[in-house]
Amino acid sequence: PTAAKPNKGGLEGIVAATTAISLVDGTAGRLIYRGYNIHDLARTCTYEEVVHLLWFGHLPTQTELSALHEKFVAERTLPDFVVQTIRELPTTTEPMDVLRTAVSAWGAVSVSGKPTIEQAIAATARFPLILAAFNRFRQGKEMLESRPELGHAANYLYLLTGELPKEEHVRGLNTYLVLLADHGMNASTFTARIVASTESDIVSSLVAALGALKGPLHGGAPSKVQDMLHEIGSVDKAEAWIREAITHGGRLMGFGHRVYKTTDPRAEELREMARVADPEDFKLSGYVEQKALALLDEMKPGRKLYTNVEYYSAALMKAVGLSGDLFTPTFAVSRCAGWTAHILEQVNNNRLIRPEAEYTGPQSATFVPLTERK
Ligand code: SDX
Repeated sequence: PTAAKPNKGGLEGIVAATTAISLVDGTAGRLIYRGYNIHDLARTCTYEEVVHLLWFGHLPTQTELSALHEKFVAERTLPDFVVQTIRELPTTTEPMDVLRTAVSAWGAVSVSGKPTIEQAIAATARFPLILAAFNRFRQGKEMLESRPELGHAANYLYLLTGELPKEEHVRGLNTYLVLLADHGMNASTFTARIVASTESDIVSSLVAALGALKGPLHGGAPSKVQDMLHEIGSVDKAEAWIREAITHGGRLMGFGHRVYKTTDPRAEELREMARVADPEDFKLSGYVEQKALALLDEMKPGRKLYTNVEYYSAALMKAVGLSGDLFTPTFAVSRCAGWTAHILEQVNNNRLIRPEAEYTGPQSATFVPLTERK
């Protein structure tokens, strides 16, 4: 099918694959995972329930959920060479780069062949452990053992801090992990599917996806939202700062989306949670959001630039105690479920993904040997 509007490149409007995992309806501002509306899932499900839904296509019974939890618990270990790899990295290393490196090391020794659900479970269980181990090492502390009774969100917070997390922090992070778990054919998921389509291994797909997610146009935006709010500093400075940024062609982090041409439904959920989690902080972030939307509408008329998931992700992750350099890695902790679901879907009915390109170079250059070139 051709693009619905003039093709600006970037595969805008191009259908690159069929999937039964999730649908992003950018006109209606609707996101569904396997038919379920994200608002219902975000307000009622644990992350592990949603992972089961993404992988197996249905919400689990209590028996199925307990079985999946046990499988996650059994995989909550890091091989010694992975721990060693993490320890070898300078403590100043970006946690997103630590995650990409440690996952790659794990794959180098322990993973090969056609992607399997067991590998998906192992990867999803290990992303939080890698980040938590590094966070402890850079604080000069020993890494901790997981607590089998804790769910994904609670165990991650516990491993990061060494303290049993507050219930509201677990609830906040769990909802964040549910909201970010999958999102159609976004850049990092498409990257994972391209690598899977060559019949490469699951870790090669995940390392490629981590590389794509790191970019500020995709998953790298949350910490930059926090930087923006910090630079603005107070409501009276908001208008001038935003106007200046847009005038100079800057992109306001947390706004705009390739698909959503209305508010991102995930931003609606996160806005309410941010408002409750830290009312004081919300006075600025809420005001800046309204001012940014008004100025984007005034200065970029017709572009349909609305709040996306990243804008309030920063506020929520800060409220549950994560440092800014753990925001994007925590996005990866969540999206590992979606990436692995898409990798398994790709390999179960595979065809090599290999699009065309529009060649704009010369057609017939005359060859001149090196000795005769002037
Ligand atoms: C995620 O794809 C997904 O599903 C991703 C994601 C997921 O869950 O996987 O939803 C997660 O990545 C959310 C997006 C996080 N990124 C940011 O918040 C960074 C800021 N946003 C932009 O960079 C931008 O909106 C993109 C990259 C997200 C989308 O940009 P497009 O679709 O490529 O749009 P474009 O660059 O063609 O922009 C169209 C116009 C341009 O103006 P003109 O050239 O027409 O004058 O809109 C302007 C852009 O300058 N514009 C912005 C803007 N985003 C677009 N202007 C100011 N601020 C912005 N944020």
